[in-house]
Amino acid sequence: MPRAGTGLTRESIRIDSHLDGSGSRSLAEDVLDGLTRPFKELPPKHFYDSHGAELFDRICELPEYYQTRAEREILEQRAEEIAELTGASELVELGSGTAAKTRVLLDALSSAGTLERYIPLDVTESMVRSSARALVEEYPGLSVHGVIGDFERHLEHIPPALGPRVVAFLGGTIGNFPPGSRRRMLRGIARLLGAEDHLLLGTDLVKDPRVLEAAYNDAEGVTAEFNRNVLRVINRELDADFDPADFEHVAIFDEHHEWIEMRLRARRGLVATIAALEMDVRFDAGEELRTEISAKFTRERLQGDLAAAGLELVRWLTDAEQRFALTLARPSS
Ligand SMILES: C[S@@+](CC[C@H](N)C(=O)[O-])C[C@H]1O[C@@H](n2cnc3c(N)ncnc32)[C@H](O)[C@@H]1O
Repeated sequence: MPRAGTGLTRESIRIDSHLDGSGSRSLAEDVLDGLTRPFKELPPKHFYDSHGAELFDRICELPEYYQTRAEREILEQRAEEIAELTGASELVELGSGTAAKTRVLLDALSSAGTLERYIPLDVTESMVRSSARALVEEYPGLSVHGVIGDFERHLEHIPPALGPRVVAFLGGTIGNFPPGSRRRMLRGIARLLGAEDHLLLGTDLVKDPRVLEAAYNDAEGVTAEFNRNVLRVINRELDADFDPADFEHVAIFDEHHEWIEMRLRARRGLVATIAALEMDVRFDAGEELRTEISAKFTRERLQGDLAAAGLELVRWLTDAEQRFALTLARPSS
């Protein structure tokens, strides 16, 4: 247990990085693979350099993007109950970002007197470092073990539990996985849980497509900039010459799959050079690159996914308007 007090103790922060160069290697592999397919596609994790992370923060404040407010509302109403049910001494958070909403949970665990350690894992190094510094100041006695890494590849680097643990995966990020990899991801998370531990999972819910599409087509164009940011990342990291202005932001609800798709649509025929990969990529006018899916859930779908990962539902918590759900789950007995 770290020393309690008002100041920052050096021992209370430890940060491990597992990206060291492998971040750009994984970008190179994803670009090589994804931009040479008949239907071009990239995984969403490459949006999040520090500029992308800032844009995501602005998205969370947008009037159209209800998810963050709805999830916060649930946390504010139910964090105490979650703290009581879990008795958690540590909180692991996957895709932790700025850990803005996390404070509501940390407050509840701290008031319950059980909180000892916070373990954020994110690909964005600056976010892990700055949230660790801020949180040890805000929660005297808290130790933070940050993990800079990819939650698809580095879950085994999360340190073993020291006491009852909650693994939080908030913000609807699980919706970015297509169904097969979603279950694989949930099985990976289940391996982090002992019999007394819990998963706290945030998922956006199926609703009127107009509300869903508006959330990804904001009037200010912040989501469009966030979407185009992946091209800036490729330009910088792989010495490419995409002009982001050549691509239009597209976000549509696929009613069959019940997910939002974000795409970048070429406004004209073009050829971009990616020098680091010694390749040219051709886009026809109107051709699209899929950059993100964001699946929307029902309780039944989520329960099926949890069961496939060996997890059972403990609580299904929603906001007053039933827009978003927070699910507390544990290893099946
Ligand atoms: C949709 S944001 C959610 C942020 C925050 N948890 C929230 O609820 O507001 C996704 C977060 O996951 C991180 N992320 C995306 N893909 C990742 C990956 N493969 N591995 C680790 N972190 C990832 C991003 O950097 C970002 O902070």
